[in-house]
Amino acid sequence: MDDGSQRDYLTHPRGGFGILWKMKNKLILAIDGPAAAGKSTVAKLVAKKLNITYIDTGAMYRAFTLFVMQKGIDPQRQQACEALIPQVKILLAPTGEVFLNGQDVSKDIRDPKVSAQVSYIASYKTIRLALVDLQRHMAGNQSVVMDGRDIGTYVLPEANIKIFQIASVETRAVRRYEENLSKGIACTLESVEEDLRHRDYIDSHRDFAPLKPAVDSILIDTSFMTVNEVVERILDIVQKKVGSIHA
Ligand code: DC
Repeated sequence: MDDGSQRDYLTHPRGGFGILWKMKNKLILAIDGPAAAGKSTVAKLVAKKLNITYIDTGAMYRAFTLFVMQKGIDPQRQQACEALIPQVKILLAPTGEVFLNGQDVSKDIRDPKVSAQVSYIASYKTIRLALVDLQRHMAGNQSVVMDGRDIGTYVLPEANIKIFQIASVETRAVRRYEENLSKGIACTLESVEEDLRHRDYIDSHRDFAPLKPAVDSILIDTSFMTVNEVVERILDIVQKKVGSIHA
């Protein structure tokens, strides 16, 4: 059976004639960091270059939050939210769409109203455990790039490479603001920055699996880096690591 683990999977973009790497084992690349540090943009591009699956775990917490809001339940009522677990089916399509109980909610989960509430949902242990199960199941027997807050510390601590991607809150606010505008999502720069500070606080102060760098993670501050520079940096790290494991 081809589980993808034996294939030649990357031609290095700057390799002259190209450096072809052969993976004998699966590659797990964890990218954690605060909201709007550019993780998903970078993770998607890295996964594409490596021809492996990208898993956006934040999208799962967002989809759950959307469901809670659709049900008219206050996201700060922990027990009421946790009681919804059996009713929630989340699917991440390989093409990037996010499905909640069969409905494509890819755009709705990015609404600032969802962003403002999602950290509460992500702080509830039972909901986290249910989504972590799904995340581990999705990673399964394949090579993945997974982004989130606790991937290197909790979800996939066995990851071969752990990146902790940060940027100043001001830089992140401008990036998220511009991204929202380009998607037609109404907001102000001030409200985006306030939301990020609020989420940073809740995400890093919750009791269970908080946002923090794994001890063996590599820190990348993207405040003054372009997306391509970050992608290249990570590909270099992968090349060195894969080389050292499989040379
Ligand atoms: O990456 P994002 O902004 O789409 O994440 C949405 C929220 O979900 C964020 O406030 C933190 C939470 N989250 C989490 O707690 N653990 C993850 N692995 C991913 C996201």
